[in-house]
Amino acid sequence: MEASEAAAEMARLAAELAEHDRRYHGEDAPAVSDADYDALMRRYTELEARFPDRAPADGPGLRVGSRPAPGFEKVVHARPMLSLRNAFDEEDVGEFVRGVRRFLSLAPEEPLAMTAEAKIDGLSIALRYEGGRLVQAATRGDGREGENVTRNIETVESVPKRLSGRAPDVLEVRGEIYMAHGEFRRLNDEREREGLPLYANPRNSAAGSVRQIDPAVTAARHLRFFAYGWGEIGERPAETHSAWLERLEEWGFEVEPNGTRAEDAGALIAAHRAIGELRAALDYDIDGVVYKVDRIDWQERLGFAGRAPRWAIAHKFPAERAETVLEDILVQVGRTGALTPVAVLRPVTVGGVVVSRATLHNEDEIGRKDIRVGDTVVIQRAGDVIPQILEVRLDRRPEGTGPFSLPETCPVCGSEARRDGGDVVRRCTGGLFCRAQAVERLKHFVSRGGFDIEGLGRKHIEAFHADGLIEAPADIFRLRDRRADLLERDGWGEQSVDNLLAAIDDRRRVPFDRFLFALGIRHIGEGNARLLARHYGNLDALLEAAASAVSREGEAWDALIGIDGMGAGRAEDLVAFLADPRSARMVEALAAEVTVEGAASIASTAGEDVGALAGKTVVFTGTLAALSRREAKARAEQIGMRVVGSVSAKTDLVIAGEAAGSKKRRAEELGVRVLTEDEWLELAGR
Ligand code: IVH
Repeated sequence: MEASEAAAEMARLAAELAEHDRRYHGEDAPAVSDADYDALMRRYTELEARFPDRAPADGPGLRVGSRPAPGFEKVVHARPMLSLRNAFDEEDVGEFVRGVRRFLSLAPEEPLAMTAEAKIDGLSIALRYEGGRLVQAATRGDGREGENVTRNIETVESVPKRLSGRAPDVLEVRGEIYMAHGEFRRLNDEREREGLPLYANPRNSAAGSVRQIDPAVTAARHLRFFAYGWGEIGERPAETHSAWLERLEEWGFEVEPNGTRAEDAGALIAAHRAIGELRAALDYDIDGVVYKVDRIDWQERLGFAGRAPRWAIAHKFPAERAETVLEDILVQVGRTGALTPVAVLRPVTVGGVVVSRATLHNEDEIGRKDIRVGDTVVIQRAGDVIPQILEVRLDRRPEGTGPFSLPETCPVCGSEARRDGGDVVRRCTGGLFCRAQAVERLKHFVSRGGFDIEGLGRKHIEAFHADGLIEAPADIFRLRDRRADLLERDGWGEQSVDNLLAAIDDRRRVPFDRFLFALGIRHIGEGNARLLARHYGNLDALLEAAASAVSREGEAWDALIGIDGMGAGRAEDLVAFLADPRSARMVEALAAEVTVEGAASIASTAGEDVGALAGKTVVFTGTLAALSRREAKARAEQIGMRVVGSVSAKTDLVIAGEAAGSKKRRAEELGVRVLTEDEWLELAGR
């Protein structure tokens, strides 16, 4: 091999590995198996060893954040965590029941009680309790050996840290960690606002959240846990599986509530259908129904065959994948001008739902998968997430197709659409002049983290904008002058118009951070808005600082980029937004209609900068005298701190009340700053 060939191949491999790393770390959505990844890495390392001076400067060997030497300690499961056999149709279910009866030599008249329970689409976890206390949590791993994720799982509210009632001395409870749909949407909305890659489905984001190095991140993801099984246990846990589930509940676990009992294949299938019908209304993903023999002594007799129990089987729901034709690619324009391609599909039923649209993410993704209009594509629907295109059936590609590229002008306003260096997104440069951006910004303006105006939803915004009632945020507060126009609208009467106007008036006083967030500045999400509000205290101070920072140098600029968690990129977006005369006018008009409440004073009584606490992590432990735990927590959050449950080297502050024990000791061991309650009140303001 020539050195030049090696250099070219190394560059290609490096780019490919970097892309896999990005998907693996950023999205928890690896595109290749570990084995394939390792093969690519081996090939790269081989070449690098032979042609070291031709290796790319940022090759995978040198980069931090490439696939890690696993960061979690290993745990060998006392009893292996096995998997389930699958039943795909009614025939398989009948065969399962016949097989169990045969194995146990049950007489035809002998009843066989079984349970049917939802199969939760999360990740399985083993929780070990000793003396009623949670001592360890481990992932399934390869079934024999998993990862110790105790500190992260401790932050999950529905995992009891202490069991209530009497429990065996050693008890290992198994079940599924999952992310509820509401939380999944909240997380992805937040990631979108902050310009981070989105998680593909709740399962991936639950898995990603459990494997965080910082437990505070896991805590902020609000995971949940359903218990169903056991691992190591000193005694037989119960006589039947149903009785075991009841014991789990007594100890304080949550058990998926839609399970039932059944005595034959027909009843199991009826339960499968019933749970399947509930599926769309559930707030979490399930991917089938698990049937189990109810009597535990019979489970013991049945035992295991290979890696799966003979006493249970998973009856999956129909595949959530389907093939259809990509009829067109539409281009939508978002709040920050991002051009998003959307697939228009020939309608097809996937997992019981008719699908006619799919997300295409961005231009690069389309290029990578070489998706073209006219192609037959494989689509997947996961839970209630927007369907995705998995791949193209190249063997069915018609003639005359061409690669897709996004337009270089905005399809809505005709302004130039540009892709700035390093950005995966192409954006319309029309700003508020672009109708699409204006409408999306208005929707963002009234959204939950923003002005949150009751009764003024996205649909109203669209309609009011289309009819010229609202063009900019300030117009919302001038709707009172358009009362007559509102009354003329279909579906609006005196009462509903007055309710809306009252709800708008209710929001004429607005906290500074909400005001800032509502402006919809790129990359300024709720967290950054809070940081800015804390730092500058009021709108005028921020506007003045932004004006002085236009030169991107000097004291004001340095102070802005110095705010912990801001960085130059966000500072740039903020300054550019406020320097644009159109957005400046918008802010001014809005500020004339509402009262922006300044953030609480920055300098505390103790003289230490409370603003500097924003973004820091705090743990409360022991009994507090002056405040309830709830209030202390709320206050810390108010000044932008993150309250977490356990102490690590990353904890910034521990507030130790009366009789603080192990957490305080741990903080001292780790050299984390510990304050008494009084010192804390002094610092945070009484
Ligand atoms: S019982 C011996 N019950 O499905 C294994 N598993 O495909 C007994 N799962 O790894 C497992 N919901 O993570 C059982 N109600 C349920 C379940 C469930 C989800 C998962 C579990 C297991 C996988 C097997």
